[in-house]
Amino acid sequence: MFPSVGALLLLLLCPGPSHGRSPQIRSEALKRLLEVFGMEDAPQSPVATRQPPQYMLDLYHTVTGADGVTKQPELLLGNTVRSFLDRARNQRLEFFFNLSSVAKSETILAAELHLFKLRGRLSQDLRQHRHLFCQVSVYQILDNNTSKAEGKRLLSTRILPVHDNTWEVFTITNAVYDWTQNKESNKGLLVIVQTLAGHKLHNYIRFATGRDHHSSKHPMVVLFTDDERRGTATFTSRETPFIREVTLHDKASQSRNTRSANLLGCLRYPLYVDFEEIGWSGWIISPRGYNAYHCKGACVFPLGQNMRPTNHATVQSIINALKLTKGVATPCCIPDKLFSINLLYFDDDENVVLKQYDDMVAGSCGCR
Ligand SMILES: *[C@@H]1O[C@H](CO)[C@@H](O)[C@H](O)[C@H]1NC(C)=O
Ligand SMILES: *[C@@H]1O[C@H](CO)[C@@H](O)[C@H](O)[C@H]1NC(C)=O
Ligand SMILES: *[C@@H]1O[C@H](CO)[C@@H](O)[C@H](O)[C@H]1NC(C)=O
Repeated sequence: MFPSVGALLLLLLCPGPSHGRSPQIRSEALKRLLEVFGMEDAPQSPVATRQPPQYMLDLYHTVTGADGVTKQPELLLGNTVRSFLDRARNQRLEFFFNLSSVAKSETILAAELHLFKLRGRLSQDLRQHRHLFCQVSVYQILDNNTSKAEGKRLLSTRILPVHDNTWEVFTITNAVYDWTQNKESNKGLLVIVQTLAGHKLHNYIRFATGRDHHSSKHPMVVLFTDDERRGTATFTSRETPFIREVTLHDKASQSRNTRSANLLGCLRYPLYVDFEEIGWSGWIISPRGYNAYHCKGACVFPLGQNMRPTNHATVQSIINALKLTKGVATPCCIPDKLFSINLLYFDDDENVVLKQYDDMVAGSCGCR
């Protein structure tokens, strides 16, 4: 049977008997935990070497509350957001993004090209125009010779003030869909800037490049996907559930208190997952860890409403107490509400990824 996340975490983090656990069991448990996070191996990109894009940090903080718990799940399209920085270092208005880290199984929901537009350098000619707008068009490159009509495909076109000095976002979903279906088809993107009359404006309108400008202005593709992993019982943290919780700070006292825990009934206890302790702080940008909580305690007759019993659990506890039928155990104390968490991390290609994982935090415990 596949162990629950809670069981894995207890195996990795709990004091007491686990001190004597063999390295094999620990490494097997870590491997299983990586599977829970949808990975075969821990990514190798060290966090310390690069600054994550501000857009990804802002997005993470918008959808995530304290300790990594999801606060606004409806803001994200799907459960994964990937960012890719431009890898083309030659031409000013050609861009290349290596999307090889996107799994074939991921559903592409939307893709955006983020370009930082620099203030236009206007010639005498252009200064005379009263309306200082330009038309910026983003094309998918299909062929070496983009001068030919069939050499490129129009993805998105916008009219922008020449003087703007800010991020511009273009939808490029169709191109990214092609690229993830067939890697060979990725020949990059071409940006063409024109006056509203259709004249080329390339020397006047510029976008920040990875080579010539600060890393905070690098051209970037942001990809919203879904990997179809779904939990069964996710709630948002805004639906504050009824929580009975006992805080036991001292780990040693936790095992000493097992007997008294049984007397207290089914309760939620802290279980902090420290990514540094697990050895994952090298690639996870945020959070540093999260509180998964765990459920502990006896579900013995009579089950009060504070134990949140199902009717089935109530009947089972009665049968158990009256010993009407042999071999009927007491109901189990388990999470009956689970929250999702978000992780912001560097993948193997040093791209920053935001992923949402369902059913990671016990929101409340009940007798089931
Ligand atoms: C894209 O990245 C992968 C993995 O890092 C690499 O193997 C591949 O050669 C890259 N492709 C291009 C076209 O740069
Ligand atoms: C594109 O250029 C490469 C070499 O630069 C050439 O081998 C190839 O035939 C060209 N493709 C087309 C469609 O012109
Ligand atoms: C690209 O296509 C244009 C238009 O068909 C043609 O005039 C030009 O010579 C081509 N350039 C190259 C390098 O093949």
